[in-house]
Amino acid sequence: MRYYSNMKKIVSNSPEETARIAAEWVKQVSATHPTRTEALVVGLSGNLGAGKTAFTKGVAQALGITEEITSPTFVIMKLYPTKSTSWKQLVHVDAYRLEKPAEVEVLGFEGLIADPGNLVLIEWPENIEGSLRAGENYLPITFSVLENDSDNKKREITFQ
Ligand SMILES: Nc1ncnc2c1ncn2[C@@H]1O[C@H](COP(=O)(O)OP(=O)(O)OP(=O)(O)O)[C@@H](O)[C@H]1O
Ligand SMILES: [Mg+2]
Repeated sequence: MRYYSNMKKIVSNSPEETARIAAEWVKQVSATHPTRTEALVVGLSGNLGAGKTAFTKGVAQALGITEEITSPTFVIMKLYPTKSTSWKQLVHVDAYRLEKPAEVEVLGFEGLIADPGNLVLIEWPENIEGSLRAGENYLPITFSVLENDSDNKKREITFQ
């Protein structure tokens, strides 16, 4: 079973709108996610500046996280306890700097994705593909900057 059986595309016109779309998405996915035996792992794909971190900020806000979300590019991974009943912890991974899937294993990734209390959002999931298993606990979302947009604020978000 997939949470979104059909591909769904949404256009966002601002970072604030991306955050609202993210908040709406996390509410839906929390409500429809079946009884969990492991974490929900979400791959956020798209170019630099496409809005992956902006989306993560919206998710964090919806989960009652007040700590500021900053891009974990240099630390690779950050953990945030939530105030949500759906998820105990948000795990934000930025795999941009990783060269081999094995590099994520030293971060205790296996244990984190085994814990059903975790919602794991991964920027640049392509870099750790070998550590991610396709299936009902993995959900890909793709971000792209729409061209021909004078103020460069249009982003297309595709839920696969
Ligand atoms: N509709 C939009 N949605 C999200 N961000 C937008 C939008 N319009 C403009 N922006 C701007 O685009 C940038 C998105 O940055 P963000 O850090 O979220 O990108 P990213 O995909 O995480 O990139 P990186 O791969 O470098 O981590 C921000 O500067 C934000 O203000
Ligand atoms: Mg980012």
